[in-house]
Amino acid sequence: MATWNLTTTKHHILICNGGSCNKAGAEELTQSVRNEIMAKGLDHIIHTSRTLCNGRCQDKCVLITYPDGHWYKEMSGRDAPRLIDSLLKGSYIKDKVSHSYNGECFVPSEETILGVHKNEEM
Ligand code: FES
Repeated sequence: MATWNLTTTKHHILICNGGSCNKAGAEELTQSVRNEIMAKGLDHIIHTSRTLCNGRCQDKCVLITYPDGHWYKEMSGRDAPRLIDSLLKGSYIKDKVSHSYNGECFVPSEETILGVHKNEEM
């Protein structure tokens, strides 16, 4: 059990560890992101959390960054260095983003499969 002091934290990375993402390499992604943070001495400014399914299984492996509000798709361990570099630069990995928050809602990127609305029958 841990209670981290988050007062120096600038970025929160949520890494999906739900069933579909786990089958697609979420454990390797999780370890690669955490290793990259440790290697660069950024543990005090970038916090990570594993999550259960985020409801975008088609995009596996899913990773979400806050407070910038990007949802990433098809992430793998190889993407960890450029993910961390982009966060530090206040940027993002354009070719891996599925949705970005515009201040009102999450806007899908051009190639993103929209999926089913929550108020629609499946
Ligand atoms: S298991 Fe990751 S989005 Fe569903």
